[in-house]
Amino acid sequence: MPPLSPQSPSPSHASSRDSVVAALRASGCVFAEDEAELILATARTPDELATLVDRRVAGQPLELVLGWAEFRGLRIAVEPGVFVPRRRTEFLVEQALAHVPDASVVVDLCCGSGAVGAALAASLGRIELHAADIDPAAVRCARRNVAAVGGHVHEGDLFDALPGDLRGRVHVLAANVPYVPSGEVGLLPAEARDHEPLVALDGGTDGLDVLRRVAAEAPRWLAPGGCLLVETSERQAPTAVDAFNRSGLETRLAVSEEMYANVVIGTSS
Ligand SMILES: C[S@@+](CC[C@H](N)C(=O)[O-])C[C@H]1O[C@@H](n2cnc3c(N)ncnc32)[C@H](O)[C@@H]1O
Repeated sequence: MPPLSPQSPSPSHASSRDSVVAALRASGCVFAEDEAELILATARTPDELATLVDRRVAGQPLELVLGWAEFRGLRIAVEPGVFVPRRRTEFLVEQALAHVPDASVVVDLCCGSGAVGAALAASLGRIELHAADIDPAAVRCARRNVAAVGGHVHEGDLFDALPGDLRGRVHVLAANVPYVPSGEVGLLPAEARDHEPLVALDGGTDGLDVLRRVAAEAPRWLAPGGCLLVETSERQAPTAVDAFNRSGLETRLAVSEEMYANVVIGTSS
C-alpha cells in the first residue's frame, strides 16, 4: 500500500465533501454531514483539511478541532485542555439575565473559556466583567474571549483570584463549577474524559465540594439584590439548594426540561 500523503485520495486525507462525510461517518460521528460542513468551512488548505479530519476521526471533540464552540450565538474560542462550554449552560445565562437584567458588575467564576461571562456581556452591554479560573490553560483561553468584550481575567483559587474591591459590589456571580462526583468521572463520554482536565470535571465525593465553597463565600462578594447562579445535576439539586440556604441566600431552583439543565439561584438580601 502506498504511504498516505495529502495528495492521496484516502478517507483520512479527504478533500471533497463526500469523502470527509464518509470518513467521519466511518469513525462513528452521528452528525457527519453537519460536521463535515463545519470542518470544510474552517480548513484553509487541503493539508489543513486532512489534519482536521484526522483529529476528528481520532476522537477529538468537534469544538477543539474547529477551535471554537457556539454559545448563545457567539463563537467562543476553545483550546486543547480547556472545558468546552455546553449548550445547556445557556440556561444559567438566561436565568442570570432574568434575575438581574440591569446588572453592571459581573463575575464569571470557574470561567473555563469565559463563555458565560462573554455571553452575559453580549446581552448586558457595558459592564464591569471579571472572570477567574485556577487553570492557566483556561485563563489563557478566557483572555481571548473575555478581553474581546472589555473584561478582565484572573488566575487563582475561587475568590482568591478576584480584586478585593469587588467585595459587596457583584450583581451577577455566575459559577459553573466542576460538579461530577469523583467516582463518576470515569463514566463520562470519552470526549470529556479524555480531552477535558480533571480539575474542570471532578467536584469531589458528591460532586459539590467546589459548589459548597462558592456558596459559603458568595454573600461577602454580592451586592444587595445580587445573585449567585450555579449549575448542578437534578440529583444534586436539593443538596445544592441546602448549601445556598445555609449561607443565608434566598434560594430557588430553576429547571429546564428542554435543555436538561438545573440552576440554583441565590439572592443576597
Ligand atoms: C465545568 S468547567 C466550566 C467552565 C465554564 N464556566 C463553562 O461553563 O464552560 C469548571 C471550571 O472550573 C475551574 N476550576 C475548578 N476548580 C477551581 C477552583 N478551585 N478555582 C477556580 N477555578 C476552578 C476549572 O479549571 C474549569 O475551567
